[in-house]
Amino acid sequence: MNEEEFFRKYMNPDDGIYRSARLMGRMAGERDIVGNYFKRIRNAKGSGEDFYLPENTKEYKPMRDEALTDLYGKGFVDMYDRYKPIGEGAYGAVFEKPGDSQRVLKVQRQDTLDRQKFGDTEIARQKEAAEMGVAPKIHQVTNLPYKHEVPMEILRSFDNRYGTTDPRHQVTEMDRVNTVDAQGGKSQMLLDYVQKLKKGGKGYSNYGITDTEPYQIENAKYNLAMAKAQLRLADRGLVHTDLGQYPYGDAREDHVAYNPNTNKMQFIDYGHTEKYNHAENLHQHTKNLNLRNEELKSFKYSDDAEHFLDHKVANIQRGLEALGKRDDAKAFRKEYREYTDRPMGEDLVRADALVNKGRKIIRLAGFNQVQPMSDVE
Ligand SMILES: Nc1ncnc2c1ncn2[C@@H]1O[C@H](COP(=O)(O)OP(=O)(O)OP(=O)(O)O)[C@@H](O)[C@H]1O
Ligand SMILES: [Mg+2]
Repeated sequence: MNEEEFFRKYMNPDDGIYRSARLMGRMAGERDIVGNYFKRIRNAKGSGEDFYLPENTKEYKPMRDEALTDLYGKGFVDMYDRYKPIGEGAYGAVFEKPGDSQRVLKVQRQDTLDRQKFGDTEIARQKEAAEMGVAPKIHQVTNLPYKHEVPMEILRSFDNRYGTTDPRHQVTEMDRVNTVDAQGGKSQMLLDYVQKLKKGGKGYSNYGITDTEPYQIENAKYNLAMAKAQLRLADRGLVHTDLGQYPYGDAREDHVAYNPNTNKMQFIDYGHTEKYNHAENLHQHTKNLNLRNEELKSFKYSDDAEHFLDHKVANIQRGLEALGKRDDAKAFRKEYREYTDRPMGEDLVRADALVNKGRKIIRLAGFNQVQPMSDVE
């Protein structure tokens, strides 16, 4: 079985492993499939009987191999063991590249034209972000065609706007990153790093450590890195929209990679991004302001321009706070609000000039300039 066939079996929305893995995690998904297979062939519906001990690999492995081979064909098991799972998202499965643990393959099932367009946009945006060092580098994109095989997809192919008779699996080979999630979450990652700085002093407990200065320094660096990375994307008009409720709510730590040693931050999953043509939006906004005829005015440009500026302001403010410049951060926001909340119409040109000044401060700031910052503000 080759790679193309393997992905076809794995991603099949009807009975592929992806479907179960997505719902319950790879291991539980696999066991569910194997368990159901044996219940079925032994005609033991509803008996609740266990046919194997999943903890007992010696017993389980041959049964698993038999089930998977029967379900997905000869050679599947071999491929299944070679393509180590890293993550499963809404539209794709991510594997470690066989033979190269420093790269991953993200496989997306694209069964409609809009999914394909979406996939192409994701890759174009990630390439742009990678040029700025904010995304893992893409080495290769391969489109593997397949034929529709489940009724739902066949039906969709008749839609004359979005349907296609040429669905594909899009395989993106990119550098592997170490997500915050994979490092145990932000606090754990920073705690581990602080412990390591202390040369791993044994018996030293983590208890209360988030209240200590070393932790809060690392936390400030993390926040500065977050602000810098997002602002770097914004320099190209890019906004990653799936990083969670940063800075105060739950973060999508599975979309953020960070190295506390180097303070390098990167994001993944550029399927969730917006791109703004900010110069054009500002230009149209200004033209709009000069229009006499109210009915000709369109607020879309102004809204987009302001939304984009808000995003930058949030990051500048966070960056300033990480630098211990709380008063500056407040004053900055206040001045920005004065330009954007004016009853006579917002002055986005001045707001933009202010944001550019703030952006420059964050760009020039070094990680050695941070001040302790606690988790809860
Ligand atoms: N380059 C990478 N290095 C390491 N892990 C990765 C990489 N790319 C993806 N992953 C892992 O795989 C998971 C799924 O990837 P990703 O978020 O890109 O997929 P998705 O299908 O677009 O997800 P979503 O459900 O958010 O749309 C990630 O959350 C992450 O844990
Ligand atoms: Mg994702």
